[in-house]
Amino acid sequence: MTAATSANRQTVPVLDFGSQYAQLIARRVRAAGVHAVLVAPDISLSELRTLEPIGLILSGGPASVYDPGAPRCDPAIFDLNIPVLGICYGMQIAVELLGGRVQPGRAGEYGAARLTVPSSGEQGAMAADLFSGVPEETSVWMSHGDQVGEIGPEFVKLAATPGCPLAAIRHRRRPFFGVQFHPEVTHTPHGTKILENFLYRVCHASGTWRMGNFVDIAVDKIRRRVGAGRVICGLSGGVDSAVTAALLHRAVGDQLVCIFVDNGLLRKNERQNVQSTFRDHFHIDLRVVDAADEFISALAGVTEPQRKRIIIGKAFIDAFKRAAAGIPDAHFLAQGTLYPDVIESGHGYARTAANIKPHHNVGGLPAELGFELVEPLRDLFKDEVRRLGEVLGLPEHIVWRHPFPGPGLAVRCLGEVTREKLQLLRQADEILLEEIVAAGLYRSTAQTFVVLLPVQSVAVMGDGRNYQPVIALRSVDSTDFMTADWSRIPYDILARVSNRLVNEVRGISRVVYDITSKPPGTIEWE
Ligand code: XMP
Repeated sequence: MTAATSANRQTVPVLDFGSQYAQLIARRVRAAGVHAVLVAPDISLSELRTLEPIGLILSGGPASVYDPGAPRCDPAIFDLNIPVLGICYGMQIAVELLGGRVQPGRAGEYGAARLTVPSSGEQGAMAADLFSGVPEETSVWMSHGDQVGEIGPEFVKLAATPGCPLAAIRHRRRPFFGVQFHPEVTHTPHGTKILENFLYRVCHASGTWRMGNFVDIAVDKIRRRVGAGRVICGLSGGVDSAVTAALLHRAVGDQLVCIFVDNGLLRKNERQNVQSTFRDHFHIDLRVVDAADEFISALAGVTEPQRKRIIIGKAFIDAFKRAAAGIPDAHFLAQGTLYPDVIESGHGYARTAANIKPHHNVGGLPAELGFELVEPLRDLFKDEVRRLGEVLGLPEHIVWRHPFPGPGLAVRCLGEVTREKLQLLRQADEILLEEIVAAGLYRSTAQTFVVLLPVQSVAVMGDGRNYQPVIALRSVDSTDFMTADWSRIPYDILARVSNRLVNEVRGISRVVYDITSKPPGTIEWE
């Protein structure tokens, strides 16, 4: 390995103790130009060594260090002479393992707190590495019940808040630093500086890691895992599966076969776009399954949203299975699972993460299909996946595509799904998107679409009186899709869309704009 490659591979493993912020730590480290991966808190030393870490970060977590079964790390990680930064629970577990004491459940602190960092004396000198460039008084974000109570003479106190006298500490002999607050969240204004200080002043990172290096590392990992085996990848038309397929193709070339199920619930030209990108541009072996009839007849008469999802999920598995059976020697299935999918479904590394909601993607295809899963995007966030897509040469319209739900237009066609309604939705959707793109709003809105309501209203057209369905426009701004606000689309654009819809799409009487935030309103109507 050349010196340059080796510098690019400098890794900071983040031991994930189950914090909802563990994900953010890795992302901040990568954004600072250093490769970061999330690993299980009890990762073995030998496994850790294979990552060639230049530093370790111990994340926060919901447990109390004295809880039975609380996640722990191997105490020997502190003997590796690698810098360690413990955050919140990560600081507490380290102190406990290194001979200090944690006070369970005393005065908790939640929210912003005033941090004081002395700049003179022994404390000031010892604080200089982690707090260089951070004001003596600054705001930090706290979220803890327990806190470190006693540290003993081996440690030095670096900073305090009114409710937490030991808000930052370091060990005298070992390269260990601990912070009770969360430097990874944006509510800690100098948090990025503190993390960068750890990476650059303490771990001496080279800072040369870029998304292109992720490609090299991932390609290497995929090749070692897959060997000469064949890999199937299901394409949905969305960015996650597209990037997965492009990465797999880079790694294993012709060993990759992609399957695209046309369920008849897609937007206009979706199938053609996928075909032209993957078959014509990347020359990937793409099998398109035309299953529209099966999906639409299985949905006949069904109006209840969850029932629609179940029917669509089952029809998808049947169609996928049939296509996969035509590729008999495939052992691996590549999926575009992202880190938020993993954590939301409680499948995180700590195995303790609060189970927030079952996710549509994780476990979307059942284990009985018998494939080994390859999930190369498992540690990434959506914005990182988009950057990766650009590095891999995917076209802009795929990289920046708004998310589209697995059940497709079926959940935007309220009530029963019929071919006529789907046709109308496709036409209306195309008009809305054309106008949003033309107005330069596609990238600034997170998701923009039309919903066909099961409501009729009166319209006077020419001399006639029509009684026809209503279309709702939905456009939201969001970064994580867990919360969202309705997009403030300028009135003149809304007016143009409305005008075009009632004039160009037959069968619409009226257009309304949805101004509900999430929560309480979900992004989709069903
Ligand atoms: P909601 O409606 O729950 O949507 O606020 C959040 C995000 O998830 C998408 N969504 C789905 N995606 N299968 C999917 O693959 C589904 O059943 C599904 N329901 C909602 C939605 O489009 C938004 O991006």
